[in-house]
Amino acid sequence: MTQIALIVGSLAQQSLNRAVAEHIAAQAPAGVSVETVVIGDLPLYTQDRDADTVPAYERVRAQIKAADAVLIVSPEHNRAMPAAVKNLIDIASRPAGQSVWTGKKAAIVTASPGAYGGINAGLQIRLSLQSLGADVLLAPEVFLSRANTALENGEVTDERTAGFLNKFAAAFYGWAAA
Ligand SMILES: Cc1cc2nc3c(=O)[nH]c(=O)nc-3n(C[C@H](O)[C@H](O)[C@H](O)COP(=O)(O)O)c2cc1C
Repeated sequence: MTQIALIVGSLAQQSLNRAVAEHIAAQAPAGVSVETVVIGDLPLYTQDRDADTVPAYERVRAQIKAADAVLIVSPEHNRAMPAAVKNLIDIASRPAGQSVWTGKKAAIVTASPGAYGGINAGLQIRLSLQSLGADVLLAPEVFLSRANTALENGEVTDERTAGFLNKFAAAFYGWAAA
């Protein structure tokens, strides 16, 4: 069984990115399981707590460690990755020498109602994960612009967008399982 750790970068209840993430998760073929990594309850990271056992930190580190691949589906906040995503990346990168990102397969999708699809956040997440030695999927890329026009009631209803996401999903799950 191939295990995917799914991270939604938005903490909003009505989230475009959550809908996109759920669409991609629904494309998982037989033999692939997708588990969501909850990040909204993570205390802000500080190295002062590296020696402590912080249950929420241990939970997400273990989930990422156990996964064959990680998928981050995230909005862009003020031309950057959301603070919650950065916090997760930092938590999972420490204590020093125990990063769970080293060699980890990771793919990034961003979605926005704007014209640029959250590309700045996507490239920033990529840079951060690559600096940690993660094996980042570079193609196909998904920076989904005008995402609000492709969704209705939390579902991807636009056929062209669904087809595009399905192609990405097939490539991602194949790569994760390889
Ligand atoms: C604090 C904040 C900053 C934002 N900055 C950007 C931005 O830089 N680029 C962008 O494309 N959208 C930006 N947006 C708009 C988001 O793309 C939009 O709220 C989107 O719905 C967020 O994704 P979500 O629905 O999955 O939370 C911002 C939204 C918030 C709340």
